[in-house]
Amino acid sequence: MDKYEAIEKFFDFEDEYDQGDRPYRYTKKRAATKPKPRPAEIVTDLTDFVDDASAWVPTYAASLDPKHHEREWLIESLAGFYRDNIITDVIRRVKGGKEANVYCCTANPAAGVELIAAKLYRPRILRTLKNDAIYKAGRILRGEDGKQIKGRRDKLAIQQKSTYGKYLDMVWWIGNEFGVQKALFEAGADVPRPLGHNGNTILMDYLGDEWVPAPTLSDISLDREEAAALFEIVMENIKLMLDNHLVHGDLSAFNILYWEGKISIIDFPQVVNARTNPNAQVLFQRDIKRICDYFSRYKVRSDPAQIARDLWIPYMGNI
Ligand SMILES: Nc1ncnc2c1ncn2[C@@H]1O[C@H](COP(=O)(O)OP(=O)(O)OP(=O)(O)O)[C@@H](O)[C@H]1O
Ligand SMILES: [Mg+2]
Repeated sequence: MDKYEAIEKFFDFEDEYDQGDRPYRYTKKRAATKPKPRPAEIVTDLTDFVDDASAWVPTYAASLDPKHHEREWLIESLAGFYRDNIITDVIRRVKGGKEANVYCCTANPAAGVELIAAKLYRPRILRTLKNDAIYKAGRILRGEDGKQIKGRRDKLAIQQKSTYGKYLDMVWWIGNEFGVQKALFEAGADVPRPLGHNGNTILMDYLGDEWVPAPTLSDISLDREEAAALFEIVMENIKLMLDNHLVHGDLSAFNILYWEGKISIIDFPQVVNARTNPNAQVLFQRDIKRICDYFSRYKVRSDPAQIARDLWIPYMGNI
């Protein structure tokens, strides 16, 4: 399968995946758009695509109906990491979302951790990324190799939303998310250690154990003392991000994991650059407000507007 066929196939995935998720309802509109059944040769192509990992069926995939598209998609997305000896198995789906699925994988002992989280973006990420334009403002277009896109053809492909353009867009979002998480981890922020990325997938340290994944702050209840301490830690992280010119842009109790008394901030595709994105200050204020609102249920008192000002003004003065 050449690269372009693989890309087309990736974007075909949504319709078929959804049909596997819920009963397929036949409508006239759907009848017109219903994808044709896959020709048998695709299977041969898939074998070529996954190369020497072609026989690999992870434990979780084996539990899926072979006709369900998730199985094929999962194997295709992760076979490269299996072949490179980073992961050895996929044991469960932690979360299936509209934009991404997160899976728990066992790691090769050389990775130094037992479990790895794999976040696999669904093509739909490009359709649903909230207010795409707000987050992309001020960005530099980058291609697959991470280099700035200068060519007229690539820029045009993105503007026209051709399949290749959509693919470049997705590569940009995922490369951006990985790069941000890496920079933050290296700066000492409380984020899961990022381990690698490829195509539609990001690998990182898994929080939780083999029985349960770490809950988000929104799923647990804290005592007041612990809540006050965690509030300070989240604020320190927000400041550290800003010192690195980054604003999370979608920070809330849903994007903070809690495990063994520690928090980890996750989910970075919509992070914006505080220096170049004209919406950065508004997003920054909103992030702080959501965190203050969450902690106020534990009687942690704060003034979000004041906190945002106290951090933003000196930051702007220093850059
Ligand atoms: N490193 C990790 N270790 C354990 N679980 C994780 C990890 N990263 C993500 N998860 C789980 O996957 C869920 C979704 O992750 P994330 O927020 O990055 O994706 P998302 O596409 O934004 O999903 P959502 O729309 O639900 O926020 C998290 O709420 C958490 O339950
Ligand atoms: Mg999230």
